[in-house]
Amino acid sequence: MKIVAIANQKGGVGKTTTAVNLGVALAEKKRRVLLIDLDPQANATSALGMQEVEGESIYEPLVGGTSIADKILPTRVDNLFIIPADLDLAGAEVEIARMPDHLTRLARILSTFRLDETFDLVLLDCPPSLGILMTNALAAADEILTPIQCEYFALEGLVKIVRVVEQVRDSGANDQIEIGGIVMTMFDRRTNLSGQVVDEVRQHFGSRVYNTVIPRTVRLSEAPSFGKSILEYDPSGAGAGAYRALAREFIKRHAPSAIARETEKTHSLESLGK
Ligand SMILES: Nc1ncnc2c1ncn2[C@@H]1O[C@H](COP(=O)(O)OP(=O)(O)OP(=O)(O)O)[C@@H](O)[C@H]1O
Ligand SMILES: [Mg+2]
Repeated sequence: MKIVAIANQKGGVGKTTTAVNLGVALAEKKRRVLLIDLDPQANATSALGMQEVEGESIYEPLVGGTSIADKILPTRVDNLFIIPADLDLAGAEVEIARMPDHLTRLARILSTFRLDETFDLVLLDCPPSLGILMTNALAAADEILTPIQCEYFALEGLVKIVRVVEQVRDSGANDQIEIGGIVMTMFDRRTNLSGQVVDEVRQHFGSRVYNTVIPRTVRLSEAPSFGKSILEYDPSGAGAGAYRALAREFIKRHAPSAIARETEKTHSLESLGK
């Protein structure tokens, strides 16, 4: 089981779009995925059409009220589960800040999943602010997946997140944490700028940058208003194709962990014609 924080302190770079659509694409590939919406804005929750659920978030488990298992809900998508967000979460920032183990509360409640085989992957959709919730996500995660928008100042934003990761490491909250992957989002092939930004980020971060680049498409921005992932809303479009490719690359990059081992099993079954 791996815990991956989808994080970038910059707003509107495609964190939630990536968390939701990568989650659905991995679930399609039979990975058991738990998506935790850590943002009080609840965008991941509504993007999956789950906004009607109230009082169900990670808030209570975080402040010590309830077991995390009670908050996991199934989604329409097989193999994809969610812990939604609600406005209570905004209050969690203040309440947790007063607690002694305020940086590692999420790490502690997620540690139960490391012992069993319930999920192959836990994806944390982080809020853009550098608050307690995002710090808890970085303290709990095995790695960070950082979406970067193909725009001016992309590198400046990356420098900031690198610094935050160093701070979490230095604080002792998680000495293993690293940026495991960078995914370039909202690539516009009609402009030279997008290509230049991708080249520049690759020069600095090399193989950590995913080969898969997510294009800017109107379909990707429309899908959440229908409460659907792009794989349901426009399954044969460029956005769905890109997130499926990202899922394949994600699985490949996580060999030889359990996430990748499943693939071998699936392939061998396919080759047997089953
Ligand atoms: N590849 C894309 N093409 C077109 N629109 C996109 C794409 N990716 C994301 N968007 C749109 O851009 C906006 C910001 O995306 P998203 O909500 O995923 O970013 P975020 O980093 O989670 O934002 P926040 O920091 O507020 O949580 C949304 O309206 C989303 O629908
Ligand atoms: Mg978001």
